Amino acid sequence: MVWVKKTFDKKYMKAFEFLDKKSNMEVKEIVKLLNITKRQSILDTCCGWGRHVCKFYKKGYKIKGIDLSDDFLNHARKKCKKELFIKKDIRKIDYKNQFDIILNLETSFGYYSDKINKLILRKIHRALKKDGQFLLDMVNPTFIIKNFKDNLILFNKKDVKIKDINKLIKNKSIIETKRIIELNNNYYEKKIVLRLYEKNELLKILKEIGFRKIRFFGNLNGDKYSKNSPRLVIISQR
Ligand SMILES: C[S@@+](CC[C@H](N)C(=O)[O-])C[C@H]1O[C@@H](n2cnc3c(N)ncnc32)[C@H](O)[C@@H]1O
Repeated sequence: MVWVKKTFDKKYMKAFEFLDKKSNMEVKEIVKLLNITKRQSILDTCCGWGRHVCKFYKKGYKIKGIDLSDDFLNHARKKCKKELFIKKDIRKIDYKNQFDIILNLETSFGYYSDKINKLILRKIHRALKKDGQFLLDMVNPTFIIKNFKDNLILFNKKDVKIKDINKLIKNKSIIETKRIIELNNNYYEKKIVLRLYEKNELLKILKEIGFRKIRFFGNLNGDKYSKNSPRLVIISQR
């Protein structure tokens, strides 16, 4: 998708720097939720600027990250161990039986057509070792649709403002967002198109691919999933 390459650049990273504050907590939660040991190998798919990979690495975990954005990867390589970050398109990964844990965090899934999104899940399944675990962390579509707002201030601090203008399309299965980023009085417009897979739709797809022991949570802390959880966290096993 053309928008993916255009959206995830330096400006986007600067605007979303505030996410860095929650990375440490999220890594702690992920380790606990998946019971990750330091002998296991982890792949963070769509790792962005490495905010999780770096924390995992510094705590002594075996991890690497893949992403498409040169701006994000270059930043990550400067901040952390450079070899941990590989430029790879998740649609084209060809790992086989290689990882104990695969992560996809902060709504990095659902950017492509149904066919490609499914292919991505199939490739993740194949990249996992037998019994390996896949963690998918995204916004909860049911919550989004129920509490739909066509205008939303996402962040508002002195030098950074982020405003979303949202549209639900294709029978509410896709949310199209025009994200307006204001950085030191400069404006940037970003596009995001996200396929909203509801819990049961994803359950069906994951099962079809061969994932088992599929569990749903309302956040990375492991709280119970409900229609009112802002997030949808899924753990499944190969
Ligand atoms: C919302 S960001 C999340 C980044 C990171 N997981 C985090 O929590 O900060 C989505 C990421 O997905 C990456 N991405 C999108 N399509 C991709 C693809 N086909 N292959 C690899 N990465 C991709 C983008 O470059 C971006 O870094």
